[in-house]
Amino acid sequence: MSRKLVSIMDVPNHVGQEVTIGSWVTNKSGKGKIAFLQLRDGTAFFQAVAFKPNFIEKFGQEEGTNKFETIKRLSQETSIYVTGIVKEDERSKFGFELDVMDVEVIGESVDYPITPKEHGTDFLMDHRHLWLRSRRQTAIMQIRNAILMASTEFFDKNGFIKFDSPILSGNAAENTTELFETDYFGTPAFLSQSGQLYLEAGAMALGRVYDFGPVFRAEKSKTRRHLTEFWMMDAEYPFLSHDQSLDLQEAYVKALIQGVLDRAPQALEILERDVEALKRYVAEPFKRVAYDDAITLLQEHQNDQDTDYEPIAHGDDFGSPHETWISNYFGVPTFVVNYPASFKAFYMKPVPENPERVLCADLLAPEGYGEIIGGSERETDYDKLIARIEEEGLNPEDYAFYLDLRKYGSVPHCGFGLGLERMVTFVAGTKHIREAIPFPRMLHRIKP
Ligand code: 4AD
Ligand code: MG
Repeated sequence: MSRKLVSIMDVPNHVGQEVTIGSWVTNKSGKGKIAFLQLRDGTAFFQAVAFKPNFIEKFGQEEGTNKFETIKRLSQETSIYVTGIVKEDERSKFGFELDVMDVEVIGESVDYPITPKEHGTDFLMDHRHLWLRSRRQTAIMQIRNAILMASTEFFDKNGFIKFDSPILSGNAAENTTELFETDYFGTPAFLSQSGQLYLEAGAMALGRVYDFGPVFRAEKSKTRRHLTEFWMMDAEYPFLSHDQSLDLQEAYVKALIQGVLDRAPQALEILERDVEALKRYVAEPFKRVAYDDAITLLQEHQNDQDTDYEPIAHGDDFGSPHETWISNYFGVPTFVVNYPASFKAFYMKPVPENPERVLCADLLAPEGYGEIIGGSERETDYDKLIARIEEEGLNPEDYAFYLDLRKYGSVPHCGFGLGLERMVTFVAGTKHIREAIPFPRMLHRIKP
């Protein structure tokens, strides 16, 4: 039989009509002649109500009773086709419910492991393939999708071309300590840490370019901000100054937040995200602060009542408590610019009047979500670049293609990389990055 199926999301467009929905039972309740089914289909969650006398009227005493008993026995995560009349219902959160006329079981579900009671994180992570069905997890995935859509739209509107960087690479993009190495027909190859270096070649060919793909870092630390496999959007563009590059990044991040506000308001509601805060980040200018000024601020506030960061000196890298404090101090996403060259990548251009510092910026999200973007102006001078590569103990031969870009019509250019899961964590307001990607890869987690 061919059915005209509608999704739960589409239910409000069918008030008073008979519809069939392919769905899963998340919970059920009721007694006597009435049964309440909580249903989900990926697009939304809502309630269907079965009333026994309606079944008897439609199917007769015996068949009607059997059907109603089947409904009362439906177990968690059984998949069903449910047919009924759509009703407006102001008491329910969704605003609509289904007056059930028929149910057909598609797939049984016996002893579903994730019950409505509380489960520990390890248990949920071991059952990630099922945990993804929950209300919270589907909301996070919808936010992830909204960010992706908004990102594509932003780049398209701003004259960028998508340019795909390779994932298998012959050189390190960021550093050599966090490389995953693999054997490539007898020579070592590495999983990409960032598409940036290839994207710079793209920028010299096409102008504004961006990529989006999985990147890999052998992070040995176990934190709530680090994955070993995550998705990055890199963008690269010629002829913009570093300040203009920050303007572009600010507009980009605002477009992503606005994209989620527009496309996934229900998801934000499910997650109880502070939507007013998100709107404020779109409306207010982001803050820009020099690294050295940030260090001075941290030193001045070291002994404040509720600070809990380690003492820090000029030249030190921030730990996450420092980053959290800085972004909370300003209350909006904050660019920390001009870090010391000593702990940043070789390709960054020094600040002309202070070569110990580089023209780079990390964008720190407020509310303790940490760095969401790393970007910089790139070194364009062939000899200076070689010197930096050698200083880092890297082999210039491995970077021959990259150095060529400085030989044939080198131009000023900047770029940045945004970690998608950091952005999802921030916009969704989830505590841990592991929930921002369908199947997280972390220090002790490669399954499922
Ligand atoms: O700051 P990063 O290392 O910058 C780069 O890789 C540059 N090549 C990007 C560029 O200029 N095109 O990484 C960029 C972003 C970080 O700001 C952070 O959001 C995210 O990637 N990130 C991680 N996300 C999850 N887990 C990790 N282990 C991450 N490391 C970086
Ligand atoms: Mg960084």
